[in-house]
Amino acid sequence: MSGKLRLGVNIDHVATIRNARGGPHPDPLRAAHMAEAGGADGITAHLREDRRHITDEDIARLKGEIALPLNLEMAATEEMLGIALRHRPHAACIVPEKREERTTEGGLDAAGLFDHLQPMVARLTDAGIRVSLFIEPSERQVDAALRLKAPVVEFHTGRYAHVGGDERAVEYKRIADAAALAVQGGIEPHAGHGLTYDNVQPIAAIPQLAELNIGHFLIGEAIYVGLDASIRRMRQLMDDAR
Ligand code: PXP
Repeated sequence: MSGKLRLGVNIDHVATIRNARGGPHPDPLRAAHMAEAGGADGITAHLREDRRHITDEDIARLKGEIALPLNLEMAATEEMLGIALRHRPHAACIVPEKREERTTEGGLDAAGLFDHLQPMVARLTDAGIRVSLFIEPSERQVDAALRLKAPVVEFHTGRYAHVGGDERAVEYKRIADAAALAVQGGIEPHAGHGLTYDNVQPIAAIPQLAELNIGHFLIGEAIYVGLDASIRRMRQLMDDAR
């Protein structure tokens, strides 16, 4: 499945900066338009239960006003299911969520939560929303995603990004093996979390991966070079790795 690797740009942290002052600036919608101009293939936004960055209104505006596919990251709750069904984003990525965490730590336990997730995946799918499960790169989780009939999985690359040396090599192999397994089962594998200019290329070189979702680093880098330039450079590194 080697070919163009899509880049989903996560704009949550534009909203984090906006919310630090409570006004309308900087507007994540403007960032989404700039991301499109910079070569993003999709926009990703996580509506957290505590609304610490993206708000309900942001989701409505993103869905209504951007041309790129919207990937809504959401916890597996009835409230979020209702919001997804109302806005009908292109994709919904189900993520684990804990209020006290700073970011999404670890993947969704799709195997352990099977009975809870099954009706949710079915309802999103019936509404024409492409379901993705944000999971650890393991056989057990890929197998659960298959049984849940999720068309997409996104592998959590946070551990790969944060460990070094031999541990990173082990984690990298887990991601590559899980991507191959997903494709064998007919699932489209994506990856994301903690990716930067320095660590993206080995991940981008995994031929089965179809999409990477990257946020914090791109928004941080945009402070120095602008969002357009930070995305263009990431896009170039990804393309060069293929
Ligand atoms: N993919 C998922 C499912 C996520 O939850 C996040 C973080 O919100 C990302 C990708 C992007 O991670 P980062 O902001 O570290 O690039």
